[in-house]
Amino acid sequence: MADKVGVALIGCGGIVIQNHFPGLKYCPGAELVALCDSNPEVLEKASKETGVSRTTTSYEELLAMDEVDAVIIATPNFVHAPCALEAARQGKHILCEKPISMDLPEARLMLEAAEKANVRHMTAFTYRFVPGMRYMAYLVQQGFIGQPFHFRCRRQQDWGDRFLGWRQKKKLAATGEIGDMLSHRIDFAHLLMGPIRELVADLRIFHETRGGEVSDLEDWVGVIASFDSNATGMLESTKVATGRGEGGMSEDLCEIAGSEGTLIYRLGNPNHVLVGRRGSSGLVEEPVPNEFLKVPNSPRDPAEGDPVQVFRYDQDFEFIEAIQQGRSCTPSFEDGVRVAAVIDAILKSAETRQWVRIGDL
Ligand SMILES: NC(=O)c1ccc[n+]([C@@H]2O[C@H](COP(=O)([O-])OP(=O)(O)OC[C@H]3O[C@@H](n4cnc5c(N)ncnc54)[C@H](O)[C@@H]3O)[C@@H](O)[C@H]2O)c1
Repeated sequence: MADKVGVALIGCGGIVIQNHFPGLKYCPGAELVALCDSNPEVLEKASKETGVSRTTTSYEELLAMDEVDAVIIATPNFVHAPCALEAARQGKHILCEKPISMDLPEARLMLEAAEKANVRHMTAFTYRFVPGMRYMAYLVQQGFIGQPFHFRCRRQQDWGDRFLGWRQKKKLAATGEIGDMLSHRIDFAHLLMGPIRELVADLRIFHETRGGEVSDLEDWVGVIASFDSNATGMLESTKVATGRGEGGMSEDLCEIAGSEGTLIYRLGNPNHVLVGRRGSSGLVEEPVPNEFLKVPNSPRDPAEGDPVQVFRYDQDFEFIEAIQQGRSCTPSFEDGVRVAAVIDAILKSAETRQWVRIGDL
């Protein structure tokens, strides 16, 4: 490999413009060398924006290019596994958007293929990089909450009844609100509380058509979970919380409580956490210490830009640094597989109206 990691993008739509084009600019070890999108207009726009002239509408062609060492897969969900399996076959390192696959068996195949090819693999659980979440994970590791009792997350957005493109089609996305939003929060649960043992879940479609087309995926998901540690979990995520707005400033809360303390993260206030200590009369807002405002070694100045946006750029830095250092990425495909198992359990529980044990899948 040359001094710089040659990076290519498969899919140049919304998330690439929001996270990866700017994120790669903060990776001195990376050079964007090629672009792929099945839509020629999107591809041309991306080429103009980045100045990258090596473009193709075929991911197979892109993955056969010698100058491509690593690939970021940012297509609709149904294309993730075919791209990742081909990337592993071609010996390319892989950062794949979430949810990594359409189901658990596909996610397992992706992990196996990447491990066998000895390439770095990463799942884009972007919100692990929020300073407040990084600090909470550190405090939990230090034993701050003591014996864990509760995990609670709430993601409430107002997407109304608007057209969602591939996101509203089961055969292209597999799930709706679960894969879109809850997948990140399931990852928080694993990060902060350890494995989920079993769960019971319910789903609801409120808009059966969007933009005049069938929408056959859930707008709302609710889950009650038990962790291996015996802690409880309450997870809820919705697209139809009218008047809540959308994006980073709409409600995204993650709260954990244990015998010694409580910690609360809110995406809209990413550089602070709310802290409760045993014996105190209420919660106190505390700033996240400087060392958690970005990943170590990143050249990014955490004081620059909108705090609700800029932490997202650290994800690409982690991917490139892991490649250069020959170490595993965090979060990896293993984390993606763990979340895929919970997603399959949610679907099974909602269908059968029963509790489902994750280990049985
Ligand atoms: N990590 C996050 O916070 C986050 C946020 C948003 C979206 N996502 C994920 O990113 C992925 C993409 O979402 P998006 O919002 O950018 O979607 P999008 O529709 O805006 O962009 C997807 C792009 O992929 C292209 N594409 C489709 N099939 C292709 C193929 N076979 N080969 C090459 N290109 C192909 C489309 O033309 C489109 O330009 C999804 O998996 C989504 O869940 C992650």
